[in-house]
Amino acid sequence: MTPSHGGPDALGVPRWDFSTNANAVGPCPMALAAVQRADPQHYPDPGYTALRGALAAFHGVAVERIVVAGSASEFIARVTAAVARSGGRRVWLPALSYGDYAQASKAWGLQRVNEPAQADLLWLCEPSSPLGTAEPMANAVAEQGGVVVVDRAYEPLRLSGHCSLSAEALDRVWQLWSPNKAMGLTGVRGAYAIAPLHGLALARSLEQLAPSWPLGAHAVAMLAAWVQADAQRWLAQSREQLTTWKAAQIALLSELGWVCLPSEANYFCARSPCALDMPALRAQGIKLRDTTSLGLPGHWRLGVLPPAAQSALAVALCDQARRPAPVHPGAKGNHVQGTHGTGLAGPPGASPHRGEDAQRRRGAFES
Ligand SMILES: Cc1ncc(COP(=O)(O)O)c(C=O)c1O
Repeated sequence: MTPSHGGPDALGVPRWDFSTNANAVGPCPMALAAVQRADPQHYPDPGYTALRGALAAFHGVAVERIVVAGSASEFIARVTAAVARSGGRRVWLPALSYGDYAQASKAWGLQRVNEPAQADLLWLCEPSSPLGTAEPMANAVAEQGGVVVVDRAYEPLRLSGHCSLSAEALDRVWQLWSPNKAMGLTGVRGAYAIAPLHGLALARSLEQLAPSWPLGAHAVAMLAAWVQADAQRWLAQSREQLTTWKAAQIALLSELGWVCLPSEANYFCARSPCALDMPALRAQGIKLRDTTSLGLPGHWRLGVLPPAAQSALAVALCDQARRPAPVHPGAKGNHVQGTHGTGLAGPPGASPHRGEDAQRRRGAFES
């Protein structure tokens, strides 16, 4: 079975892809340049000595605690296998969560339980997916005796709030980091985990379960760039841009009658006022993430995208609802219809001066 994910599909890369949570300001220029300079002619150091040292220094932890992984998804499969191999039988998952936790548990025959105390493997994710919020059970789960993994894929893209767990609590759990989203480089597959302060036995067991060279040269380059000060500065600036875009995107959807749920990240879930014709939207280059497979039926998860993408979305949604597009909150006085370069037909009554409108909009939007 092919897992259900946002992002590119059989039709290719969507022109306006709201369905992934990758940093839409990206790619991070420094990380991209590092990936482009990577040496594909040679194997990486199989022990990833320099990289693990750099990641350990970045997080202020002992190097023995760093376990590299082919991706966060690969780590999810591997840690589940390790727990099952050592006799674990039960898993606890948040009510809504990334599908790979459940999929790996199912593959290894782990039974899902409602009581954290009964579980051998427990998953947390903050900011959570699909909601982008704190996990209400975080502190109770982090105290459990089983293997607790906190997925921090979206922590670098947190736009408000803070992690529920204290530094001491984080030292008692596994932390899973997947910087390809923050760097806007999700095509580069590479991630790492930080073992709990007293979790080195499982760390060694996970290394034994890994194939040789789980990270290729490009992933090594991305992860090495991610911890550099210039990439972190770029990331901090990108969060400011995303915060502005997020406010505009929520305002726009609210005006169209959507109910947007609270979120602390660069994505949020929302309920549409009417049924959506997804194939038609996809044909117009627009993709949203149906959250049914993530445990939230009737909603869509939308990554925060720049105003031009928001305009294209508004035009397409109004087109489906057969009503005039609203004024874009980010561009006072400019109607969103007829987005230049999208190939979209504007709704009835669209301005005869579409090119000029589009030019004005670009001036207003693309700062
Ligand atoms: C919460 C969460 N964790 C992990 C992943 C997987 O990350 P990776 O690209 O490193 O496999 C995703 C991808 O969508 C995700 O949403």
